Amino acid sequence: MSKDPIGIFDSGVGGTSIWKEIYSLLPNENTIYLADSKNAPYGQKGEERIIELSIKNTEFLLKQGCKIIVVACNTATTNAIKVLRDHYSIPFIGIEPAIKPAALQTQTKAIGVLATKGTLTSDLFHKTTDLYSNGIEIVERVGEGIVPLVENGRIDSEEMKNLLHTYMQPMLEANIDYLVLGCTHYPYLIPQLIELLPKRIKIIDSGEAVAKQTKSILEKNGLLNTFTTRSKHQFFTNANNIAVMESLLGKGHGVSFLDF
Ligand code: DGL
Repeated sequence: MSKDPIGIFDSGVGGTSIWKEIYSLLPNENTIYLADSKNAPYGQKGEERIIELSIKNTEFLLKQGCKIIVVACNTATTNAIKVLRDHYSIPFIGIEPAIKPAALQTQTKAIGVLATKGTLTSDLFHKTTDLYSNGIEIVERVGEGIVPLVENGRIDSEEMKNLLHTYMQPMLEANIDYLVLGCTHYPYLIPQLIELLPKRIKIIDSGEAVAKQTKSILEKNGLLNTFTTRSKHQFFTNANNIAVMESLLGKGHGVSFLDF
């Protein structure tokens, strides 16, 4: 069991930012990564469709014998993780916007959250903001259009710069000092955001926390892979974006097309 892979899925290539955190913390673990890029973006879809797609991805990963599933997508987590946990007996790790650390540390009493429409309108997101919004202004923005640009490898494009400029404007006006990245595609935009934002604004995402949580749940369940043989990593996409995904992963990681 402990040698079985960790399954990871996202609506597309963004969850590779989470895969990197997991790989860096748990290098012994075997992994299978699924990019449902054919159906990206999830962020504009309704809850029912997001649940349906999350079940499809889960079924595929279970067929590959995964011991745990990391839902490396804020939109799928906030809309579908409860259903997944109710339906399946293996552990699921989810990812949510890191509102708590931002709300606890803000000095200006204003934080920004950039996420998809699906995340920002979910019940789970509202529950979290209700808990931490006391006396704090939370400036939410839907990052519409960002995910398709990342999926197409246009991270460094003029369109991306313009979108980020537009979405950051109300946050700057509200004098935020923390920007929460609530979508796993967004960590790839950190260099652009650093250029765009004043230095006093800290950018946070949940990648490292998810990797730590994965480790802790594996430990608790006696599923941590203690074998030191070289770990195996498989990456699949169901769209024509192999090159984009390979460039995000960096050298040495091949991606295969699979029509799932
Ligand atoms: N990467 C995803 C997230 O974390 C989903 C983006 C999308 O498909 O809209 O929310």
